[in-house]
Amino acid sequence: MTTERLTTELEDILKAGDIIRRGGLVAFPTETVYGLGANALDAEAVRSVYAAKGRPSDNPMIVHIAETSELDPLIKGGLDGISEVTRKAMDAFWPGPLTIIFPKSDTVPYATTGGLDTVAIRMPSNRTAYMLIAAALRPVAAPSANISGRPSPTTAEDVLEDMDGRIDAVIMGEQCDVGIESTVLDLTGEVPTILRPGIITKEALTEALGMEVVYYNALLERPVAEADPESGVADTEFKPKSPGMKYRHYSPKARVRLIEGSAEEFAAKARELGLEAIRNGQRPAILDYEEDELTAAHDLFADLREFDRQGYDLILIRTLEQSGLGFSVMNRMLKSAGYDIVN
Ligand code: TXA
Ligand code: MG
Repeated sequence: MTTERLTTELEDILKAGDIIRRGGLVAFPTETVYGLGANALDAEAVRSVYAAKGRPSDNPMIVHIAETSELDPLIKGGLDGISEVTRKAMDAFWPGPLTIIFPKSDTVPYATTGGLDTVAIRMPSNRTAYMLIAAALRPVAAPSANISGRPSPTTAEDVLEDMDGRIDAVIMGEQCDVGIESTVLDLTGEVPTILRPGIITKEALTEALGMEVVYYNALLERPVAEADPESGVADTEFKPKSPGMKYRHYSPKARVRLIEGSAEEFAAKARELGLEAIRNGQRPAILDYEEDELTAAHDLFADLREFDRQGYDLILIRTLEQSGLGFSVMNRMLKSAGYDIVN
């Protein structure tokens, strides 16, 4: 299959919408990371997304919409059934990098939700994403547009690196603003629960919802510590609420190790480990975001991919403080390092 390169001009976006309506796959920019879009209501199209990504089919997808009215047919009870707290979350953060879990209606195929009775929905703020969903005239199921297990793509070039020849088209947009995936918020239980941390933090959600918001327990543990490098499956007995969590994630080819401490402590330890690597015939790379969480979020995945292209064997990264956005970025760093922290 030849993967068509499309621009962000209206004519090309209309073409991309056509491809999605016909059951094809189009990668497109969002404010978080690039998504790999398919018609969310077409089980066959959704199955081809799993195939293109090499993704286990029990890992559910996020359904992207352009307007609140599109939510009505997708969720149980429709728009009228939405709770007050859910309404607050939507009003505060949509369009934007917040994914909300709803009980699903019969309209949404189980292929899209990985067999779950809930559906994850997000309204992106990125203009190209918005126009594509509008042009498709369908809700668009879109996981991150990477091969399963690799760092999510934040540029069109990163998408092509993984997906060229495997999908119908890529909209060649700009680099993503945020750089890490959306916050996933479960509002189907008693307590609002963050299943995946993102740029919309626990603190911001607590404030907007006017009630306590918690992290899903497994976010505070080490669910992928023993991941099998072949399958990427950490533990077949582990049944997390957010099924994506049980798979190996964000892994460049190089080994990633995290180092805690001040700038000086990091530099000293990184030099020690770097020299040791060089003595063993390896090429080490050193990465310190200097406690700048926004830059770390924006650059992390792009940097991991760039180090791979340059053939590094070992990437030594300085940790961030695990609060606010730092917690969200550390969630990705920890996974890419297989929870290997040097202290
Ligand atoms: O920022 C994003 O969310 C990007 C862009 C493209 O929108 N998309 C994305 O999709 O990151 P993906 O498939 O890579 O991650 C979806 C996450 C997974 O962790 C999955 O387990 C969780 O959302 N998820 C999806 N549906 C769910 C559901 N019904 N219940 C719980 N978790 C769900
Ligand atoms: Mg992903």
